[in-house]
Amino acid sequence: MPLRVSTRRSAADSVDVPLLVLALRRHPTVAPDLVALDAKLGGALGRTLDRREFRGARDEVLHLAGAAAIANPQRVLLVGLGDPSDAAGALRRAASIAARQARKLGAAALAWYDGSRGDVSVEAVTVGLLTGAWDYADLKTPPPADERRPELESAVILCDDEAAAQAVERGPAIGEGMALARRLAMMPGNLCTPDYLAGVAREIAARHRMQITVLGRPELEQEKMGSFLCVAQGTPQDPKLIALEYRRGRADAKPIALVGKGLCFDSGGISIKPAQGMEAMKFDMCGAAGVLGAMDAIARLGLPVNVVGLVGSTTNMPSGTAVNPGDVVRSHLGKSIEVINTDAEGRLVLADVLSYARRFSPSAVVDAATLTGACVIALGHTASGVFGTDEELVADVLAAGMRAGEPGWRLPLYDDYKELIKSDVADIKNSGGRPAGACTAEIFLKEFAEEFPWVHLDIAGTAYSESDLTYIPKGPTGVPVGTFVELVRGRAR
Ligand code: BES
Ligand code: MN
Ligand code: ZN
Repeated sequence: MPLRVSTRRSAADSVDVPLLVLALRRHPTVAPDLVALDAKLGGALGRTLDRREFRGARDEVLHLAGAAAIANPQRVLLVGLGDPSDAAGALRRAASIAARQARKLGAAALAWYDGSRGDVSVEAVTVGLLTGAWDYADLKTPPPADERRPELESAVILCDDEAAAQAVERGPAIGEGMALARRLAMMPGNLCTPDYLAGVAREIAARHRMQITVLGRPELEQEKMGSFLCVAQGTPQDPKLIALEYRRGRADAKPIALVGKGLCFDSGGISIKPAQGMEAMKFDMCGAAGVLGAMDAIARLGLPVNVVGLVGSTTNMPSGTAVNPGDVVRSHLGKSIEVINTDAEGRLVLADVLSYARRFSPSAVVDAATLTGACVIALGHTASGVFGTDEELVADVLAAGMRAGEPGWRLPLYDDYKELIKSDVADIKNSGGRPAGACTAEIFLKEFAEEFPWVHLDIAGTAYSESDLTYIPKGPTGVPVGTFVELVRGRAR
């Protein structure tokens, strides 16, 4: 059951739930709104702040247990907002931390107070709470009933702004789109197969009356997608190219296309990866999960736009039939590609999906892919790599990422990089080696995306986390769902 979030016009001292969360900025004091609450708590809040036991730093939490002697709230959780330049981002982050803490405390319900007004805040808090409450326990045997903690079932945001209260409706569309992306990413490769992703896409299409096309191996052969197919030739699983069409814009308006890399497992193929950490390559479909999560959210928001979601999904396996280093294949666009490294498979899949996107005459194409380890080295887990030549689209994607709390950082596309992927035998080769690895991957993709404004997001570092990040648990983050939704929403206005 997803967490239910609502708003209520109520003062912090009159909440009727056991856990009250107060989100406070740096150098917190007892604001006029909180004076009555503090009195009810016997002055515990004021004393805590006076003694500087809680300073409101970003990610700081302090739990006042046994808070009110009488009735609710029995517990107060202070969460720090820091000194944010991005107020909505700080609220989203703090709300996520609060929901995670509430789950640890076994609270079934919480009330949230941050003293701010406005729909952007309410939406951000809602998304944050939903993100924080998320977990993936589908494959764990539940503990015996008497050891089970209550689930966090409901959250109420204290907000006396009628107009802002409406935003609470939008939060779940986005939060649950992210939850879908995270669940798909977390699912192991033996369960989340290309076929499974196609099933999820069909379910989204049915729910929102979208048109859907799914191409399997025979159809990809008919389409002459030699680049995509060479990646899939080592696996017995049926590869899938999925196209979801959401049309709620003007009939003549060109669609935005969102494209995702969907490698349900990337072993590297014949250029096999080292065993250490290879299990993380189940996350190599986070771009695809992001497209599906975003399409679901966009449709639930009912945005008046035309959007096409495209997913290229397969697994990359070594076998007797697998593609070998040195092999040359012909792409859908007609360009020949020398496969230098079978582990540079994402670009081979995306080349054909980008070329397929032409048939939708898109106004813009944005792809997201866990494409290169080099991007993780360059930007870590903090920002996605952003590439593109269309200045307006690049600016739009960067701004959308900022609004969504999913920062991107632009990386360059110098012509010199093209030299690195020149082949002796074919038009182009799929790997330029280690130097500028994120940029050469991008230069490769650009060869297949020349007919429309295009931006590439390298989410290898941002789509999942290998350690607990306080506001996000170890595992998938939901990136790039927020960026996609914000981009489309920005264009819908
Ligand atoms: N899926 C990987 C990229 C990746 C690495 C994602 C680490 C997340 C974390 C991709 O298919 C890959 O293997 N890329 C190679 C390219 C190289 C062979 C040119 C890489 O980055 O090493
Ligand atoms: Mn690879
Ligand atoms: Zn990969």
